[in-house]
Amino acid sequence: MVSEERSFKPKAKVDYLRVSVTDRCHFQCPYCAPAVRKLSKHADILTFEEIKAAARILSRLGVRKVRLTGGEPLLRKNIDALVRALKSVSGIESVNLTTNGHLLLEQAGALREAGIDGVNVSLDSLDNEKYGRLTGGFSLEDSLSGIEEALRLRITPLKINVVLMKGVNDDEVEGFCLKASDLGCDLRFIELMRTGENDSFVDRYFLQAAVIRDRLKERFHLIPSQRPGISGPSQDFFSRDLGIMVGFIHSNDGKKCLDCTRMRLTSKGFLKRCLFSSGGFDLRHLLRSKETEEEISDKVRRFTLLPEILQETASLYHFSMMQIGG
Ligand code: 5AD
Ligand code: SF4
Repeated sequence: MVSEERSFKPKAKVDYLRVSVTDRCHFQCPYCAPAVRKLSKHADILTFEEIKAAARILSRLGVRKVRLTGGEPLLRKNIDALVRALKSVSGIESVNLTTNGHLLLEQAGALREAGIDGVNVSLDSLDNEKYGRLTGGFSLEDSLSGIEEALRLRITPLKINVVLMKGVNDDEVEGFCLKASDLGCDLRFIELMRTGENDSFVDRYFLQAAVIRDRLKERFHLIPSQRPGISGPSQDFFSRDLGIMVGFIHSNDGKKCLDCTRMRLTSKGFLKRCLFSSGGFDLRHLLRSKETEEEISDKVRRFTLLPEILQETASLYHFSMMQIGG
């Protein structure tokens, strides 16, 4: 199933699992939404019970943190029930979620009650009209109200994710800092990533996060942070001027692959060590078989120890962010 020639062995133990709970999304972000949407059949998507079983199995292997993604995770009915279920899995210490924010206002209360540990909201513009254009007609106001509600309910860390696009939102980065500071939430700028389906968009709009980092470093006196607050491969700073954390995600140049502690579970139940790997491990098949969780766990352990694919080969593969979930 894992088909490519592999040339290095990961050292790091997997402790972080991203779960795509649906490949559906009503937004049409230009770097993500594929021209033709191939939605999975309902029966192919993991049920909440299966996701919980996957978390139990993976917690045996060291997974401690789970992040729910999509598509848009809040489109999945009763997602709060899944949060609650995952929080009850022994060994799982935190359950977070990444959303486009559109449905956050109405769901923040239920998520809070279910024990969500933090939320990331994707927001690429603070200009109403531009936001509408970038999302396919959605309202900035709705997402901002969702963020405000989540903050009111003290869902923290709450982080705004901004995908940097040259000539589109680079004039807004200072504004984003001031807005996040005003709201009292953290902020993260993300470099555009190639998915194989968005190459011409990336060629045209790619903007190095380092350029923005250096610009903001001066303006807001960003100090490198040792605090392990913002998770993942982010370069984090604290700004005393703003009173918030500001992070930057640089393109993956392959150097950090060996230290990667992530694993991904697609909505159809494929496990992947790397976003760029074309292969995967068909966990759904095993979850629906008669094998015990212990037996499955052994097989997964062997899979996680396989050398993973390197970034150089990434461009060979087409993947959909909606299915893998970033
Ligand atoms: N490049 C960079 N970021 C992306 N995201 C989705 N697709 C891409 C891409 N091609 C972001 C979303 C969200 C997070 C889950 O990933 O905007 O912030
Ligand atoms: Fe945008 Fe996320 Fe939806 Fe993709 S999945 S279109 S990045 S909101």
